[in-house]
Parts: sequence; C-alpha cells; structure tokens
Amino acid sequence: MKTIGFIGTGNMGGALAKAAFRSHKADAILLANRTRTKAEKLAEIVNGTVVDNKEVARKADYIFLGIEPQGVEELLEEIMPVLDQRKDRYVIVSMMAGNPLAKLEKHFGKVPIIRITPNMPTAVGSGVSLYVTNDQVTKEENEYFYQLMEPSGLVEESDEATMAHAGGVKGCGPAFAAMFVEALADGAVAVGLPREKAYRYAAQMLKGTAEMLLETGEHPGVLKDSVCSPGGSTIQGVRMLEQSGFRAAVINAVIATFEKKF
Ligand SMILES: NC(=O)c1ccc[n+]([C@@H]2O[C@H](COP(=O)([O-])OP(=O)(O)OC[C@H]3O[C@@H](n4cnc5c(N)ncnc54)[C@H](OP(=O)(O)O)[C@@H]3O)[C@@H](O)[C@H]2O)c1
Repeated sequence: MKTIGFIGTGNMGGALAKAAFRSHKADAILLANRTRTKAEKLAEIVNGTVVDNKEVARKADYIFLGIEPQGVEELLEEIMPVLDQRKDRYVIVSMMAGNPLAKLEKHFGKVPIIRITPNMPTAVGSGVSLYVTNDQVTKEENEYFYQLMEPSGLVEESDEATMAHAGGVKGCGPAFAAMFVEALADGAVAVGLPREKAYRYAAQMLKGTAEMLLETGEHPGVLKDSVCSPGGSTIQGVRMLEQSGFRAAVINAVIATFEKKF
C-alpha cells in the first residue's frame, strides 16, 4: 500500500497528482496546499484527501514538493520535526526548479530523494519529465516512481547535466511554441482567417507535426523538404524566415535560457 502526498497543488503539483491518479498505482493520495480550496478542487478529480503539510510529511510514502523554491526554508521549519520523528521509509520528490540533489540533501539529509523536472504540457498528459535519484533510492522505488509518473507523458531517468541542457527546449519551449502559434495565427488573420480558427488550426498543425517527427524518427529537415514543392509557396515562406533570422533567434533563445543564472 503506497500513500502519495503532495505539498503544493498548483500547476505542476496538480499535474503530477493527476498522473499518479491515472497510473492506478497510488493507494491513497494526500493533498496539502496553502490555499485549501485549490487542493479541495483537485481532490475531487484525483479522489484525494485534503490534509495539512504536516500530515503529508507524517503519512506519505512519496512526498511531492510542488511549492515555489523560495518557500522551501519556511516549509522545512514546518515539516522537518515531523520527518525526523519517522521511523519508516519515505521518498522526497522535488519538482522545485534550481534545486539539485546536493541542495536537496542539505535540506532533507541523506534520505531517498528524487528530483523531477516536469513541464507545462504534463498537465494534459503530454509532458516531458526528466528525473534523477540520489544513491538512497532503491531500484524498486525508482521503478514504482516511473510507473506512477508515466501517465504524465514522456518520463525519462536522466542526470543533472542533461536536465540543465534540456531545460531550454522542454521547460521553456512551450512558451516559444505558444509564441510561434500566436505569430502563425496573426499572419493568418492578416490575410483573412478568423482568429479562433487561426489559433485552432495552428495548434493542431504543431501537434500533428510533432507527432509525425516522433512517429517517423526522421530528421526535421526531411519533413520540411517534403512540404516545400519546387516553385511553391512554402519555400517562399522558408526564404522569409531565413531572411528574418528565425533559426538564429530560436538558437539564441535556448542558449539564453541555459545561461540565465539564478
Ligand atoms: N510551471 C512550470 O513549467 C514548472 C516546470 C518545472 C518545475 N516547476 C516547479 O514546480 C513548482 C511549482 O510550480 P507551479 O508552476 O506549479 O507553481 P504554482 O502553480 O504557483 O504552484 C505552487 C503551489 O504551492 C502552494 N504553496 C506555496 N507555499 C506553500 C506551502 N508552504 N505549503 C503548501 N502549499 C504551498 C501554492 O499555494 P497557493 O494556492 O496559496 O498559491 C501553489 O498552489 C516550482 O517549484 C517550480 O519551480 C514548474
């Protein structure tokens, strides 16, 4: 019997709680949030029980931390006395940005710790989440955690360097992709397409293109070339994007996110 607890049930905590619910691997889900009504709404969806932070710390086998990183010191003051009393095994799961395993071990001590970096589309089961474990996590705990998170989308065990290198693409990428959809739609509106249709068609196009790339495993250039018929309109659009520095802008955006210091 595994009890899965969440402290902080905002966008990401809520998304991972939904994944845990859909996995059918959680025997009980405990939810604690500063604003209780948020946890109450989520509890209806995931068949969870609303409790306080200390109760999650006391009872959960896996304790997910979905609060903002700047709130961790205050939370530690509240829950460490409870965790220190526990004689049974528990796993800390942190989704807090900018908190590597070494820092989490300073906070929680040498207990089993998993660090996961979900992204926004996790909320609709199409996320990309990388995770790392410290040396206290057993193979069984690792496997169980993977199964628990699998309904959130692509879930991969990783290392912290890869997590850092992937952040711009998978973590910040949804913002860039949404800007691309917005810009495509603006262009379509400029030539006469109603805005609601323009957003819907652009988003579906992005989804379909992503699905094709994932399914075929082909180089993105192959797909681009196959859309550009000789003398056609697509290659004229490609010419304009290249002239406007589209690729350089995207490459520089990803590098800028990597170089941002906290
Ligand atoms: N958003 C992303 O794309 C993303 C991606 C990867 C990782 N993360 C990480 O995920 C974490 C959550 O991000 P988010 O986007 O989900 O933020 P969010 O929607 O603001 O959620 C944070 C939640 O934590 C609650 N909270 C804050 N302090 C608390 C405390 N002491 N006890 C109980 N609950 C508390 C907040 O309650 P209230 O309802 O009162 O505000 C809020 O519901 C952050 O650490 C972030 O770095 C986010």
